[in-house]
Amino acid sequence: MPRTPEQTAALRAKVAQIQSWYHRIDLGEGVETPGHFRMADYLRHYHFPERMDGMRVLDVGASTGFFAYEFERRGAAEVVAVELPSWEAHDWTPRYRAELQQKSLNERQNVDREVMVDGFTVVGEGLGSKRVKRIWKAIYDLRAADLGTFDLVFSGAMLMHVRDPILGIQRMRECCKPDGRLIVSISTTLADQKDPVARFVGEWNQCNWWQMSPACLDAVLHCCDFTHIDHRAHYTLQDVTGQFHDPTYVCHAFPRQ
Ligand SMILES: C[S@@+](CC[C@H](N)C(=O)[O-])C[C@H]1O[C@@H](n2cnc3c(N)ncnc32)[C@H](O)[C@@H]1O
Repeated sequence: MPRTPEQTAALRAKVAQIQSWYHRIDLGEGVETPGHFRMADYLRHYHFPERMDGMRVLDVGASTGFFAYEFERRGAAEVVAVELPSWEAHDWTPRYRAELQQKSLNERQNVDREVMVDGFTVVGEGLGSKRVKRIWKAIYDLRAADLGTFDLVFSGAMLMHVRDPILGIQRMRECCKPDGRLIVSISTTLADQKDPVARFVGEWNQCNWWQMSPACLDAVLHCCDFTHIDHRAHYTLQDVTGQFHDPTYVCHAFPRQ
């Protein structure tokens, strides 16, 4: 149903109240979230099914929700979007965690609300979402016994942020139906490297641990019981200013049939 001018103005005001947006998302009638990344420009590299009618989809590390709501738009019956319960719940390096703990409780709660919570909620309201549910968990805590299994599990640009990406992939495999698939993208500075290598990048600030070569991701997927890998793609993610460039590898991994 189209919004009234008053509803559009109210939505615009809610969007403007949030200082930190990851995704730039078109909410219709001239309202757009002012995020860094317009992922709609890169969708073709992910080779998602055009229609997802009837599918259960798990979006791990959903941030402000571009992909979760895109899966709903494509007809998914149910989208479960996973996000960390707080900013502090990231796998921070001990050095950065010590810095974080210097901040007041109030400051930390503001970051949680601004970065982790409100944007996703406002986008859902703006799009009139009905079939997307968010849960608060780290990737390590995704268990099929709690969540069931999914036709499609998606992890976009988040495995670099986890200290143990292999356990993360194991958990996503557990949540994948035998005839389902995992679609995963990683940032990689090692795209030309033919060997299955991972470079430790924990010396960078904040929350980065491993830059895997595409061959490394493929090898990890194989050892985590994904027998077939397909739809490999490479692209360079840029932010809306064009100043940030992130070489990205995407692939689809299929479990043993
Ligand atoms: C760079 S953003 C990517 C957002 C989105 N998936 C995309 O591709 O545009 C990474 C997201 O992963 C989440 N994240 C980081 N570590 C995580 C973990 N251990 N478990 C679950 N989510 C995590 C972050 O909070 C953030 O929302």
